[in-house]
Amino acid sequence: MTHGTGCPVSHTDYTNESEIYGHYTILDEEREAARFHFNDTTERGFWMLTRYEDVLAGFQNHKNWTTAVRTALFPESKIPLLPQDLNGEEHQKFRRIINPFFAPAAVRRMEELAHTRCVELLEELAPKGHCNFVAEFAIRYPTDLFLVLMGLPVEDGDFFLPWTEEMFNCMLQGDLDGAAVPKQKILDYFTAAIDERRRDPRDPAEDMVTRLVEAELDGETLSHDTILTTCMSIMLAGLDTTRSALGYIFTHLATHDDDRRMLIEEPESTRDAVEEFIRMYPLVIQAGREVQESCEFEGIDMAAKDVIWLGIGSANRDPRKYDDPDKFVLGRPGINQHLAFGAGPHRCLGMHLARLELAVVLEEWHKLIPEYRIKDGAALIERGSQLTLKELELEWEV
Ligand code: HEM
Repeated sequence: MTHGTGCPVSHTDYTNESEIYGHYTILDEEREAARFHFNDTTERGFWMLTRYEDVLAGFQNHKNWTTAVRTALFPESKIPLLPQDLNGEEHQKFRRIINPFFAPAAVRRMEELAHTRCVELLEELAPKGHCNFVAEFAIRYPTDLFLVLMGLPVEDGDFFLPWTEEMFNCMLQGDLDGAAVPKQKILDYFTAAIDERRRDPRDPAEDMVTRLVEAELDGETLSHDTILTTCMSIMLAGLDTTRSALGYIFTHLATHDDDRRMLIEEPESTRDAVEEFIRMYPLVIQAGREVQESCEFEGIDMAAKDVIWLGIGSANRDPRKYDDPDKFVLGRPGINQHLAFGAGPHRCLGMHLARLELAVVLEEWHKLIPEYRIKDGAALIERGSQLTLKELELEWEV
C-alpha cells in the first residue's frame, strides 16, 4: 500500500511491547524495505525517516522541523518539558543557563562520588547472589546521581526513589491518574528545595537549583513553574534512559562471555565499549518533529503541521553507515557520529553524565561480580515507544 505521495505506508504500532530486540528487528526491516514510510497508526500519522543520512539531515533541519512535536507517537503530549519545548534563540538562551552543569568538566567533578555511590550499592547487592537488575540497581543508581547533580542530598534517594519508581511504573502502564500522586510528591519536594535556595542561596556555579533561582532570561528571573518544570524534565529525561541503557548492556554482557571477559581484562576499553553499546542499543528509537512551513524533503511534499519520525533506532543500525551493525565492535569507524543522543541544538544535555554513569557501573560491577547470568526461564520483555526492559533477573555465585 502506498500513500498519495507514492511513499509506502507502515502500519507498525511502535507503542506495543515485544520480546527483547523485537523493535530492532522491525526497524531494520522497515529501513531496508524503503527509505521513507508514512505511518498511519496515530491520528495525525507521521513521516518516517529510516536511514542514517536522512535522520541526521532531519536533526539539522531544526529551523523548520521543531520540537513543537517531541515524539511522533504521542504528538499531542500535554506534559510541558524544558528545555525540550523551546526552539531557536529562546532554546539556546535557556540551554546556556544549564549547560555548564552538564559540561565534561562538571561531570568529571562528579566522578569520585559516582564511584563511591556505585560501590556502596554494589556492596549491598553482591552478597545476595541475585537481583532484579532493573528495579534493584539500574534505576537506583542514576536516581542517586541525579540528586547529587541537582545539589540535593543523596540520602533523600531513600524516599525519592520509591516516588520515581511508582511514577515510572504507572506511566509504563499508561496509568496517568496513578502517576499523578507520586508526581505531586516529587513536585512538592522540588518546591521545598527551590524555596530553601531562595532563602539560603548556595554557590550558583555548583548548585543547579540556586543557579535556576538566580538566572535571568531577557532581564527577568525564571518563574517558580519554569524552575519546577526544568527540574522535572531533567529527571524524566535522565532516569528512565540510563536505567534502560544499563538493562540492555547487562543483557548483552550476561549472554556474551567474550565481551564480558574483555571488559574485565581490559578495563581501559570501558569508554569505547560504552559508546558502542549506546550505538547498538538505542532506546530512544525516534525523536519527533513538526513541520512549521510546508516544504519538500528528498521528493516528499510535506505540509505545515505534518509530524516527522527521526528514526534514531534504525539510523544507528544502518549498514550504509556501519558495517555489521548488529555486532559489538570496539573502536569502529564513525562511532562518534552515532545518533543515540540525537544531533543539532537539542542533542542530549545529559550525554556526558550518561557516559560516566555507564562506565562507572561497568568498572565497579565487574570488580565485585565478574560472572553472572540471566536466571533460567526469565522473561525478557521490552516496552514499546521508548525501549526499556521491564525486568532483568540476574544471578551469580556467592
Ligand atoms: C543513555 C542515556 C541517554 C540517552 C540514550 C538519551 C537520549 C537523548 C536524545 C535522543 C535526546 C534528543 C531528543 C530530541 O532531539 O528530540 C535527548 C535530549 C535530552 N536529554 Fe538525554 N539521553 C540519555 C541520558 C540523559 C541524562 C542522564 C540526562 C540528564 C540527567 C538527559 C537529559 C536530556 C535533556 C534535558 C534533553 C533535552 C535537550 C534539549 O531539548 O535541549 N539525558 N536525550
